[in-house]
Amino acid sequence: MPARTMRAVAVLLTAACAAVSAQIAWTPIFLDASSQVDLWTQSSSGCACPGGGEDCACCVRDGACPCGDVAPTRCSQCGLEQYCSNMCNITIDSRVLKNKSGKTFGQIKSPSIEGPGACSYVLQPDAGQRVEIQLYRLVSVGRFNGSRITEKTIRSQFLAFFSFTSLSNTQGVGFHPRGGSRIPHTDCDWLYQDVSCRGSGTCVLASPGYPGLYPPHRRCRYLFATNSVHTRVKIIFTSIMLPRNHCATDYLTLRAGSSPSASLLASLCSERIATLEQPGPNLLLEFNSGPLVPPYDYNGFIAKLEFLEKIDTSAPPPTVAAASPPLAALTHLTHGERNALAENDAAANEISTNKGGHIGCGATVRGYGAGGIRSGHFDTRTTAWRSQCVIHLVGIPTDVVQVSLFNYNIRLQSCRSHIEILEGLHEFGARGERGDRFERGDRALLRVCGPSVREARDPSGRFLFRQAVTSKGSNLTLLVRRATTQSVDEEEFVDGAFAFYDEQHEGTVSPDATCASTHYGLASPAHGGVSAPSHHHMFWNIEERLMCTHRFIPASNQSVTIEIQHLDRMWSAEQTGSVVTGAGGCRTACGDAGCECRAATPLQHHDHVALVAGDGTHLSCLCGDFQAAWLPVVVRSWTSLRLEYSVAHYTYASRGFDYAAAYSFNDDAMCGQRTYTTHSGEISSRNVSVTGSLNEFFYQQCTWVLDSNVERQLYIDISSEQDKSCSSWNITLHEWSGMGAHSDGGLAASAGDLLYTFCARQKNHTFTLPWRLNTVVIRLVALSRQQPLYTIRWRSQVVRANNRLGPPTPVPAASAKASRFDHMIINYLLLFLLCGFIASEYCCYKMTLFALGERF
Ligand SMILES: *[C@@H]1O[C@H](CO)[C@@H](O)[C@H](O)[C@H]1NC(C)=O
Ligand SMILES: *[C@@H]1O[C@H](CO)[C@@H](O)[C@H](O)[C@H]1NC(C)=O
Ligand SMILES: *[C@@H]1O[C@H](CO)[C@@H](O)[C@H](O)[C@H]1NC(C)=O
Ligand SMILES: *[C@@H]1O[C@H](CO)[C@@H](O)[C@H](O)[C@H]1NC(C)=O
Ligand SMILES: *[C@@H]1O[C@H](CO)[C@@H](O)[C@H](O)[C@H]1NC(C)=O
Ligand SMILES: *[C@@H]1O[C@H](CO)[C@@H](O)[C@H](O)[C@H]1NC(C)=O
Ligand SMILES: *[C@@H]1O[C@H](CO)[C@@H](O)[C@H](O)[C@H]1NC(C)=O
Ligand SMILES: *[C@@H]1O[C@H](CO)[C@@H](O)[C@H](O)[C@H]1NC(C)=O
Repeated sequence: MPARTMRAVAVLLTAACAAVSAQIAWTPIFLDASSQVDLWTQSSSGCACPGGGEDCACCVRDGACPCGDVAPTRCSQCGLEQYCSNMCNITIDSRVLKNKSGKTFGQIKSPSIEGPGACSYVLQPDAGQRVEIQLYRLVSVGRFNGSRITEKTIRSQFLAFFSFTSLSNTQGVGFHPRGGSRIPHTDCDWLYQDVSCRGSGTCVLASPGYPGLYPPHRRCRYLFATNSVHTRVKIIFTSIMLPRNHCATDYLTLRAGSSPSASLLASLCSERIATLEQPGPNLLLEFNSGPLVPPYDYNGFIAKLEFLEKIDTSAPPPTVAAASPPLAALTHLTHGERNALAENDAAANEISTNKGGHIGCGATVRGYGAGGIRSGHFDTRTTAWRSQCVIHLVGIPTDVVQVSLFNYNIRLQSCRSHIEILEGLHEFGARGERGDRFERGDRALLRVCGPSVREARDPSGRFLFRQAVTSKGSNLTLLVRRATTQSVDEEEFVDGAFAFYDEQHEGTVSPDATCASTHYGLASPAHGGVSAPSHHHMFWNIEERLMCTHRFIPASNQSVTIEIQHLDRMWSAEQTGSVVTGAGGCRTACGDAGCECRAATPLQHHDHVALVAGDGTHLSCLCGDFQAAWLPVVVRSWTSLRLEYSVAHYTYASRGFDYAAAYSFNDDAMCGQRTYTTHSGEISSRNVSVTGSLNEFFYQQCTWVLDSNVERQLYIDISSEQDKSCSSWNITLHEWSGMGAHSDGGLAASAGDLLYTFCARQKNHTFTLPWRLNTVVIRLVALSRQQPLYTIRWRSQVVRANNRLGPPTPVPAASAKASRFDHMIINYLLLFLLCGFIASEYCCYKMTLFALGERF
């Protein structure tokens, strides 16, 4: 507890000097009567002496004890009697004092000393207490040059009151912050929200202990959070006094986001006053203090906070589409609707020119053409009042539209005021079709009935879970129906964000996820690119981890190649929050098994880009100190692959980092899921084109089923020329355990118990499977810098070489094998002759058994 101890006369002195301009409220100290000698002495004589005798001081009734022989005419606070004659170099412990005298306040009366000299006083508050000191007399203290007293003095003395006051006592000394709320479990952190700072002067903040000296080695954070997209935060520092030339330890910073790793907007140290103004949604002011610096002529800062509702013309796009497509193109609309749209266009253009591009009632937003916009914010308050407010969002045919609502206030009861988000484009007559409304309501993607209020954040400043919808088609209508006139005290409004997603290029949007899409090999273009999300407007109300995923699902005769081509420097959020982990950041290590993110703390605390297999295996991961020379990182995969873009602490102002990746779906049928019913055959790897990148990896998970409905003895030869470790790729043989649900949704053969493993080092190996194991699953798993090269050949022996009463064949010895094969060939020939007449495998099976003399 750094604040437990306050030390030294000098500290007391200068703290008081710095505060001259402010009127300090002082916790009143109890006095027994107005005519008493001092705080504890009622009168200097007239009472019995402790050791006998009648003419000693009379003490205050409560909490005072006689000084005894050293000063018979004085009393002191119980617990401090031993210092009656010399109150120098002492410690006053709040708990002890309370125990002995029943009081949490008292008086310090220094001895009269010859300078230069020093007496120190340590005041030790209990938990939950602060220390207040009031110096009311100071005599001949000499000159202090910052490190020592430079002047000889005589009879130097001071008198002071002190009080251990509860922290919850707001009547006491000094400044009290206004309008903010303490962030629980922190030393000195505060939250200020726009909703609690309406009106000037309602929100004031200051360094701890202001206007006194602030405690050393502190870090206090002041988070400013806005609920509206347009709100700007104005911080007016009316006084800043930090020690001179200590800017490395004593300073203020303002950051664009709620995290201490967010980008720096301003840094203050030597300024005396300052005014900063920045847009929301989150700003973090951080105050840092170093060691105490003599001559203690500083006292921190005090600032007023204002939240300004400002429509910012320099804000990032949106701009309303300037060049509209010819209205004639909108063939499905009736003449009336077209006129209505034309009017809306006019209105929209008016908005774009007059209101700084903010989208309000009557706007038609186009996601295409010159000046078309792909995402933006809307707010019904940016346009003149209309009881019926309609916003049209028109995309290209392959688009879907997402709308997220941030704040709204819908007042009229029984749904007379409401918000609806409707699929497609709708026009509404000025009178409003009441009958039609409910029918339409059923078709609404989202309907909010009045009375209803939503604020983007909860009282603790946390953004609420998003309220968003995704269209099925390319057009969306937002309708707000409200009272015919605007209420004076409470406007009915809605604000939020929208974005168009071109599913053809950006993948199929996951409606429930914040930022996820899927690219299907058969439906998406064969080549394309993905990059960091550009629909930032939608993420305005995210101030935590942002994870965006692109899932690539190749068809069974395809593979997918993903090439991370460009990557920006990434921030890591290790220092986030009040926890300083001390653990290093995230390191990227590229080796034979791909690039790996190595971090002491969970990966979600670090910005990263990862390529992840369907089963969650990280095939490649880049974070922290990756080097541009390692790019491109390429993964070619024969099963589904997920590109994960993760920003540890996203804020609208900081927006994470950029990357660019190219993908291509390749036609290559060598992997995927295949079933072979022939009794012999060969599967071999085929050369695929390589990019030649240093960090190219192959991820293959191929499953082949060798299936037969004839009882057989199966031999599988596997060979490879490669000298690779087993962990880079291997082929396993499994029993068959039926069809199971595949992670990509389809059915896939489930591999049962493992029978054998083939590693490339083995060069070639023949596996003899148990008799009657007619169906086996062969699985290739590879994660390797080189494409695995292999040949798998199989052959079946459908008759038993030994007589039919014998036991199943043990694994044959090499020589026995050859003769058995001769035997087998003869049997095969026989069978072929027989089966040639009957072109049915089933018959053939029966015939085989017949030929072997089995019962059937
Ligand atoms: C207070 O006094 C009592 C008895 O005099 C003692 O037992 C106790 O430990 C004291 N507490 C403190 C905090 O000094
Ligand atoms: C008080 O302590 C200071 C240094 O800590 C010392 O120089 C001084 O002599 C002490 N005074 C008395 C009266 O003990
Ligand atoms: C204070 O005075 C002492 C002795 O004269 C000197 O050594 C010291 O540097 C001075 N300190 C300052 C801050 O001027
Ligand atoms: C969306 O609106 C445009 C313009 O009105 C129209 O051409 C297009 O067919 C609409 N799309 C859908 C899916 O309704
Ligand atoms: C891949 O499979 C799909 C259907 O599964 C088929 O339409 C397509 O023609 C196949 N492509 C190749 C190259 O075999
Ligand atoms: C595959 O490619 C490698 C190197 O590109 C080459 O040496 C090898 O002969 C090729 N194999 C086949 C079967 O084309
Ligand atoms: C087989 O290869 C995969 C992928 O490289 C690897 O994860 C697995 O550990 C390997 N199995 C054995 C037994 O080495
Ligand atoms: C397997 O290895 C043996 C020698 O170890 C060799 O004679 C044989 O040709 C190899 N078979 C294949 C298919 O490579």
